[in-house]
Amino acid sequence: MLRALFLTLVFFFGTSAVQAQDFSLSGPKSLNKNGFYQFLLPRFSLKTGIRPALQMGTEGADASLNTTSGIPVFEGLGQFFYLDLALATPERAAKAERFADWLLSDVGKRTIEQFTIDGTAVFTATLAESEEDFVPNFAGDVARGEALSFTNCARCHVINERNRMKGIGSTPSFGLLRTLPDWLERFRTFSERLPHPSIIQIIGVSEPFSPFSPPANRSVELTVDQVEDIISYIVTIQPIDLGAPLQQN
Ligand code: HEC
Repeated sequence: MLRALFLTLVFFFGTSAVQAQDFSLSGPKSLNKNGFYQFLLPRFSLKTGIRPALQMGTEGADASLNTTSGIPVFEGLGQFFYLDLALATPERAAKAERFADWLLSDVGKRTIEQFTIDGTAVFTATLAESEEDFVPNFAGDVARGEALSFTNCARCHVINERNRMKGIGSTPSFGLLRTLPDWLERFRTFSERLPHPSIIQIIGVSEPFSPFSPPANRSVELTVDQVEDIISYIVTIQPIDLGAPLQQN
């Protein structure tokens, strides 16, 4: 039985080494014991051709399913489960992002809800409607994230009311970006989005500045943890009210 399970795992997930086309996924051991990964991941792979390399309980995977931080995905067995994406190389990040999109899609949700233990469904994946204030939850430090935003982003972006009259008029404020449905995706990948690649580097993630277009004046280096702090702060920003009358500037 154990041997069969092991072979199934090897078959589905390949060796634990992450191949170029894959991304690594960590998650609670309890979901391995009850057969959830074995149920879920092949269905995702069948659809997308992407095969996550499962690394049970380890840190530093490209994506982690866990019970403390990230985007809420499903609930059951007395817990909420979140998906947190690490800042990986662009190719691996894109695969992990596909996994996140799939989990949150109707097909993904249905798949999660079809999982049964002894014939009983155990998870519900329709959280948004049932849990009004159940928002993404990140492990970074909110106060540090706000400070980092002021140091590194405020010369272009309005961060909050403290620099409402500053920033560059044509650059979207953080409050405006926060109204976008895909704000998290945009902040997670901001360093690859123009104009940031010539200004900002995430240590260990970004390509080095191109020698042909050297970094702009006052370039910025951030660590992965600092970006996590910034995102943790962004979660707390109130999206601006687009229905309110425009303020005179
Ligand atoms: C030198 C000016 C400058 C700095 C510094 C800067 N940004 Fe930006 N940022 C911009 C501009 C300009 C845009 C709008 C680009 C566009 O609309 O095409 C932008 C857009 C964004 C977007 C939306 C991207 C998208 O594609 O929708 C995010 C998220 C963002 N910035 C985050 C940050 C964060 C976080 C920092 C600080 C760590 C930062 N920016 C620092 C100029 C800057």
